[in-house]
Amino acid sequence: MKFEKNILCIGAGYVGGPTMAIIAYKCPQYKVTIVDINPTRIDAWNSDELPIYEPGLDEIIRATRGKNLFFTTDIQRSIRENDIIFVSVNTPTKTFGAGAGMAADLQYWEKTARQILQYSESSKIVIERSTLPVKTAQAMENILHNAHSSTFEVLSNPEFLAEGTAIKDLENPDRILIGSRETESGLKAREVLVEIYANWIPREKIITSNIWSSELSKITSNAFLAQRISSINAISALCEKTDADITEVARAVGMDRRIGDKYLNSSVGFGGSCFKKDILNLVYLCRQYGLNEVADYWEGVVKINQYQQERFTLNMLKAMFNTLADKKICLFGASFKANTSDTRESPALFITKKLIEEKAEVVITDPQALRNARVDLANIDGKISFIEDPYSAAAGCHAIAVITEWNMYKELDYQKIYDAMVKPAALFDGRNILDHVKCHKMGFNVYPIGKPSLTHF
Ligand code: NAD
Ligand code: UGA
Repeated sequence: MKFEKNILCIGAGYVGGPTMAIIAYKCPQYKVTIVDINPTRIDAWNSDELPIYEPGLDEIIRATRGKNLFFTTDIQRSIRENDIIFVSVNTPTKTFGAGAGMAADLQYWEKTARQILQYSESSKIVIERSTLPVKTAQAMENILHNAHSSTFEVLSNPEFLAEGTAIKDLENPDRILIGSRETESGLKAREVLVEIYANWIPREKIITSNIWSSELSKITSNAFLAQRISSINAISALCEKTDADITEVARAVGMDRRIGDKYLNSSVGFGGSCFKKDILNLVYLCRQYGLNEVADYWEGVVKINQYQQERFTLNMLKAMFNTLADKKICLFGASFKANTSDTRESPALFITKKLIEEKAEVVITDPQALRNARVDLANIDGKISFIEDPYSAAAGCHAIAVITEWNMYKELDYQKIYDAMVKPAALFDGRNILDHVKCHKMGFNVYPIGKPSLTHF
């Protein structure tokens, strides 16, 4: 079959996999290929056990794989055969050299640029889909402009999906942002990309901008979202000192339409691969431009998040008579949020390490993320076990800490759980998802976030 367009995505991760699967699903007239350097990941994409858990993804993959969606490790051939190339490789925080712990590590991104240059035999549109510091497109252009005969147009098309709702977000996004150079060829390339999205997204939601605004908008969106969480979490600490209730405060504040009610759920802190990384990257960038006050402002968002996670663990210690040694604590949830198997920067990892430092024994339960959690915690010296069934996991424990807001945790039989625990049994609700009064009546000492605790002492 002859396809209307041949589209390639480099990077088969949480972004590359779902985004390209949706393009293939919505546009059967296009051939979509996803390539990755990691053969294990590609094998998993080609198997019945996908490398990531995302509601609705299995069905989309089943409907498209082998028809117009293909996964491969053949980078050379993929670049040669496709003329529209999305790049969604990882851009983690740098762990070495200048900017370690702050700046984005652009090595994977740059290697991709060089591979595109090396293997291209015709002109291409190259689309930044990874989250990158503003002005990265210029580096891509500078590399690609060394080509002998091919020409390249670089676009910025950041991804705004959230894990756990990726398919919904991709099918019905708030907006699609496409940044380009404002040259004739830049605008022409932009139209090609607009045309792809217009297959299923209303035109008014597809917005365009200059390429630098597009790059900066992505990081700014994440910074704003994270800032709201840190704002409500900061207030949760004050609630605990004053007997105010964070849920009531968030409700009252969020009903102001100028503020809105989203991202005001107080929690044990935000996790995930991007919020912290992108804000630190923003902070680093601001400092490089000498904007120290701006950098300090955004750095505060990450500091409060760290504080919230530390505060949660210290509250556990305090509530359990200032010693956790040899106590068994069950964490409900390992993923950084519900409906994903992703554990990157999950508060569960930080809290586990802190509890192990206190010489506690940690039992972790999660419906999807135990495989990742096992790998993340493999090198920690301490007693950690992983049990999928929450009832068995909590049995014999001194405390439960709800870390992830999985729906299933709201529906468990807490009386049954309480009966099988060591007394006094503590319940730390790091997501405020349980019925605290009911659990207290059952016998638990209950410690929510940003609300008065309910104890029997
Ligand atoms: P990921 O680590 O899950 O996937 C990246 C993939 O790129 C990996 O499988 C890696 O093997 C592959 N890769 C690296 N170098 C390569 C190369 N030279 N050739 C081929 N493959 C290569 O990362 P992710 O979560 O998908 O994130 C990718 C980018 O998208 C990041 O910049 C991130 O900030 C951004 N982003 C992520 C999300 C999210 O929800 N995870 C949402 C929006 C934006
Ligand atoms: C976030 C953004 O929402 C996406 O728009 C963006 O594309 C993505 O980062 C990215 O660039 O990677 P994601 O991290 O997948 O998506 O998930 P979110 O739903 O935003 O949650 C992030 C963290 O904040 C989670 O740990 C979540 O539990 C926490 N959170 C969220 C709260 O603690 N309170 C809230 O009210 C909302």
